[in-house]
Amino acid sequence: MAKLLREAEVAAFWRDGFHFPVRVMNAADALGYRRQLEAYEATTGQPIQSNMRHKVHLLFRWAQDLARHPAILDAIEDVLGPNIFCWTTNFFIKEANTSSFVSWHQDATYWGLDPDDVVTAWVALSDCPVESGAMKLVPGSHRWPQLQHVDTFHKDNLLSRGQEIAVEVDDATGVMVPLKAGEVSLHHVKLVHGSGPNTTGDRRIGLAIRYIPPHVRQLKVRDSATLVRGVDTHGYYDCEPAPKADLDAAALAAHKDAVERQVKALYSGTDKAAFRA
Ligand code: NI
Repeated sequence: MAKLLREAEVAAFWRDGFHFPVRVMNAADALGYRRQLEAYEATTGQPIQSNMRHKVHLLFRWAQDLARHPAILDAIEDVLGPNIFCWTTNFFIKEANTSSFVSWHQDATYWGLDPDDVVTAWVALSDCPVESGAMKLVPGSHRWPQLQHVDTFHKDNLLSRGQEIAVEVDDATGVMVPLKAGEVSLHHVKLVHGSGPNTTGDRRIGLAIRYIPPHVRQLKVRDSATLVRGVDTHGYYDCEPAPKADLDAAALAAHKDAVERQVKALYSGTDKAAFRA
């Protein structure tokens, strides 16, 4: 018995590699999370930067709450089962009228996770119409082999290495994923996806939350993760502490430790020692 999704929607996820939209909170609650992010940004005078955009749930209590949001976890449980880790959280923010984009890629390329039972809940904290640079994806591509990617490190590419698929992807095959604030899309770790620039007058704010069941291993490093539902049946990950207060000393230390492990995995084979700004 599914908890949030219908059986047909779960089947569609495994057939197509994605499912959307899933309403997990109302627009007012999504705006509340956005306000928390923007209250932090107001203290620094700029959009959230660099390492702070990753493993956000270790820095801020509100982001930890989001990673543990019951409705999101219900949807994830429907596709992955009852034992769930949050492996990471990543902000994908496109400022109003800017050229940031995400090249066609498969998430699995550099993550080091095996097997591929990895699902992203992409949570819209603003309205994300097509024109805002909504995600586009290629149905069924999660069944393709792992494709070769080339690193571009393009300045406007939001991906860690600016990686893009080395073969041509026909733009016409892409399905657009417009979302309203408070909705999420789900996608599989091998699904080919990307997104274009934001041509609207508002920020496009999405938090990508990556979930795995305990049997998924990290092959590149001894990694850490946050158990958000059920039990850890395998012991593959060091347990991450939840922040007791936003950005307190313990939270910053835990975040630094977790990000260093992730950077080591994601940038292996390059000379990068930190997430790009
Ligand atoms: Ni991606």
